[in-house]
Amino acid sequence: MSNPSLLILPGDGIGPEVMAEVRRIIDWFGDKRGLAFDVSEDLVGGAAYDKHGTPLHDDTMARAQEVDAVLLGAVGGPKYDVLDFSVKPERGLLRLRKEMDLYANLRPAQCFDALADFSSLKRDVVAGLDIMIVRELTSGIYFGEPRGIIEEGNERVGINTQRYTESEIDRVARSAFELAMKRGKKLCSMEKANVMESGILWREVVTEVGKDYPEVELSHMYADAGAMQLCRWPKQFDVIVTDNLFGDLLSDAAAMLTGSLGMLPSASLGAPMANGRPKALYEPVHGSAPDIAGQGKANPIACVLSFAMALRYSFDQGAEAERLEAAVNKVLADGVRTADLLGEEGVQPVSTSGMGDAILGALDASL
Ligand code: NAD
Ligand code: IPM
Ligand code: MN
Repeated sequence: MSNPSLLILPGDGIGPEVMAEVRRIIDWFGDKRGLAFDVSEDLVGGAAYDKHGTPLHDDTMARAQEVDAVLLGAVGGPKYDVLDFSVKPERGLLRLRKEMDLYANLRPAQCFDALADFSSLKRDVVAGLDIMIVRELTSGIYFGEPRGIIEEGNERVGINTQRYTESEIDRVARSAFELAMKRGKKLCSMEKANVMESGILWREVVTEVGKDYPEVELSHMYADAGAMQLCRWPKQFDVIVTDNLFGDLLSDAAAMLTGSLGMLPSASLGAPMANGRPKALYEPVHGSAPDIAGQGKANPIACVLSFAMALRYSFDQGAEAERLEAAVNKVLADGVRTADLLGEEGVQPVSTSGMGDAILGALDASL
């Protein structure tokens, strides 16, 4: 049987820097665990625009549809701010999500013990935190029509439309209930049914799907109150399901509970392919971090943990995913810190590749 295939799209800014460390870890699993992948690499975002004049070449899109999983670094950067909206780096990522129909974006926020003091919240509030945000990723206001900037009278109007069909809500709700069944059997759905019709429908459909999961304790919260509760007492949550835009905001907020945006991985999953694996793209939650790009300062852990999610969700290698997560836990417990995780006195930060070295060392020690 041929090896599973992985398409790597490092992208822009710190994307290539963090991905270089993940490549070393992928090679480690091939050498030491007999888990070899057929890895190919291509361009996305500004890097693709620079070469092809588009943030995602059609050939890259086609390749992404064929492979077993895609791993993406980050896209965007100030250099591309002047570009027309249609060719901005972010459009490349949005096209991948939409055309691969990756409707369920899993964004776990886990607080590693060694980092409990790094959160801007008190240790008690975050220690032991382990929540999963399921963000709908292919619809809602990101994609709804009509959209655009139009002339109306003597001024311009910017328009975006929040739109959800019952089936779009149903499928992402099912993903969230399935996850809840494997975890703490609690699901909180967040919308604004008090002001938005799409929120009313969201609440109705999630409630209906919940009848198929009687063991899961379902609750509903307005998303603004949810944001407040996430900061007040995040451990009340197990799985959260929410729409595309609220999920974007809530997951960045949840990232800070864990100490740094540089820690948060994600998996974007679609329907199963012919081989039974879900269509999948794995990417850190953070962006291209232009303020630190090219300086060897980026924390590669979010991208490394995104590969751990690939091992778990695409390749059925849960035990190897745990091995990698345990290696990350060990280096953090040993006090290895990239600059974004500093806080203790007298601790010198390691570089991006220094963090990669430490994780590889911990992986070797796990054998
Ligand atoms: P950002 O996530 O790039 O950066 C926010 C802050 O977090 C910065 O101070 C940055 O230095 C820090 N940070 C982020 N990741 C880090 C890491 N791994 N290690 C250490 N520090 C890290 O968000 P932004 O500044 O709002 O956006 C910059 C660009 O990235 C924009 O063009 C935006 O559209 C894009 N973006 C892309 C993605 C993606 O590709 N998935 C996600 C978010 C933002
Ligand atoms: C994210 C990012 C993206 C989003 C952008 C870069 C398109 O913020 O993945 O969280 O808004 O979904
Ligand atoms: Mn975001």
